[in-house]
Amino acid sequence: MLLEISDLSVFYGDIRAVDGLSLSLKEGELVSVIGANGAGKSSLLNCIMGIVPPRGGSISFSGDDISSLPVHKRAARGIRFVPERARVFPRLSVYENILTGAYGIRSKIDFPGKLQWLYSLFPVLEERRNQLASTLSGGEQQMLAISRALIAEPKLLLVDEVSMGLMPVLVDKVFDVLKMLNREHGLSILLVEQNALASLGISHRSYVLETGRIVLEGASADLLKDPKVQEAYLGL
Ligand SMILES: Nc1ncnc2c1ncn2[C@@H]1O[C@H](COP(=O)(O)OP(=O)(O)O)[C@@H](O)[C@H]1O
Ligand SMILES: [Mg+2]
Repeated sequence: MLLEISDLSVFYGDIRAVDGLSLSLKEGELVSVIGANGAGKSSLLNCIMGIVPPRGGSISFSGDDISSLPVHKRAARGIRFVPERARVFPRLSVYENILTGAYGIRSKIDFPGKLQWLYSLFPVLEERRNQLASTLSGGEQQMLAISRALIAEPKLLLVDEVSMGLMPVLVDKVFDVLKMLNREHGLSILLVEQNALASLGISHRSYVLETGRIVLEGASADLLKDPKVQEAYLGL
């Protein structure tokens, strides 16, 4: 297993956001966690990245328990994060934002080659490379946040509600890119989403999260046909 989470709990004071959650992801898999607003999706990803501490349970990555490591050590092991609402650096240019993703490892990667590849994935970022990130649209900021994560050649990409606030045509475009990265480049991806249809459509397996607990899991193709999922998450 690349990522193995067992019995994880996250609290904010007395508020229980993640409640005894177990989840795994094999190398090369694209796994999604679907859930409504407030289900605990961001808390889960923030905890995997090391931004919020667990109250209990364990997180192992490539066989090592990483649950007490600081964020930068998890990043150094190859975990990268596309946070909710992209969170790009507004006062830096597009190019400078991408550069921050390669901080400390620029000499170890083919930075110019990788940059050209990202610009070919998202041509709008090349057109706007010298613009401040704050001047980009929401969709462009998501593309930038993905690029900032990808420049570091991650082993595992965590993606928090990349569809939020995007027009349907852009949701399709961004999800197509994630699927392509997984299928053609073998990138392991853990995606959390309210957009169940889009995420079940590109993932191999999915978990359904309700108030911090996994209530259903399985092959995404099976969940798409599951009457409970259809009623609660697909509006069918
Ligand atoms: N910093 C915080 N302080 C207190 N409660 C929080 C904080 N962040 C999230 N929560 C609560 O934890 C629960 C899960 O939130 P979150 O992980 O953001 O869910 P989701 O990403 O699925 O919308 C919610 O009840 C939310 O109100
Ligand atoms: Mg969230």
